[in-house]
Amino acid sequence: MSQTETVPCLPPGKNPALRVMPMPADANVHGDVFGGWIMAQVDIAGSIPAVERAQGRVATVAVNSFVFHHPVFVGDLVSFYADIVKTGRTSITVSVEVYAQRMRHSNEIVKVTEATLTYVATNDARQPRVLPKV
Ligand SMILES: CC(C)(COP(=O)(O)OP(=O)(O)OC[C@H]1O[C@@H](n2cnc3c(N)ncnc32)[C@H](O)[C@@H]1OP(=O)(O)O)[C@@H](O)C(=O)NCCC(=O)NCCS
Repeated sequence: MSQTETVPCLPPGKNPALRVMPMPADANVHGDVFGGWIMAQVDIAGSIPAVERAQGRVATVAVNSFVFHHPVFVGDLVSFYADIVKTGRTSITVSVEVYAQRMRHSNEIVKVTEATLTYVATNDARQPRVLPKV
C-alpha cells in the first residue's frame, strides 16, 4: 500500500483481541517500534481465537504472510483484530489486522500491519490434536 490508510474509527462491530501501547524499550532510537515486537503481539492476538476454537493449547506452525504497511511509534495505541479464516483437521488459520491510533499526533487511526498465521491444536505431548466439534 503506497498511501496512508486512515479510518475515522476502529472497525465497527469488532472487538480487538488485544490492545497495547508500545514503550521506548520496544523501539529504536527514533521511536519506531521494532517489527519483532509487532510480530510477537500478532502471534499472541492470533492465538486467542485459536485457543478458544481449539478449547485448549495450540502451537504456531506457520506465519503465512506478514506485511508492515506503515510504522508504529512509541505511544501509539495499537489494536489487534483476529479472525479465524479457515479450520482443518487440527489446524486453525487466523487473519490479524493491526491498527495504530496516533495518540501523540492527530489521533488518526492507521492500518499498520496485516498477517495470516496457522496454529495447530496440540495435546499434552505437544502433538497435533483433532479440533473439537463446534
Ligand atoms: C505444530 C506441530 C505440533 C505440528 O506437528 P506436525 O507433525 O508438523 O503436524 P502435521 O504435519 O500433522 O500438521 C498438522 C496441521 O498443521 C498444518 N501445517 C503443517 N505445516 C504447515 C505449514 N507450513 N503451513 C500451514 N499449515 C501447516 C497441516 O496441514 C495440518 O493441518 P490439518 O490437520 O488441519 O490438515 C509441530 O510442527 C511443532 O511442534 N512445531 C513447533 C511449534 C512451535 O514451537 N511454535 C512456535 C515457534 S516460535
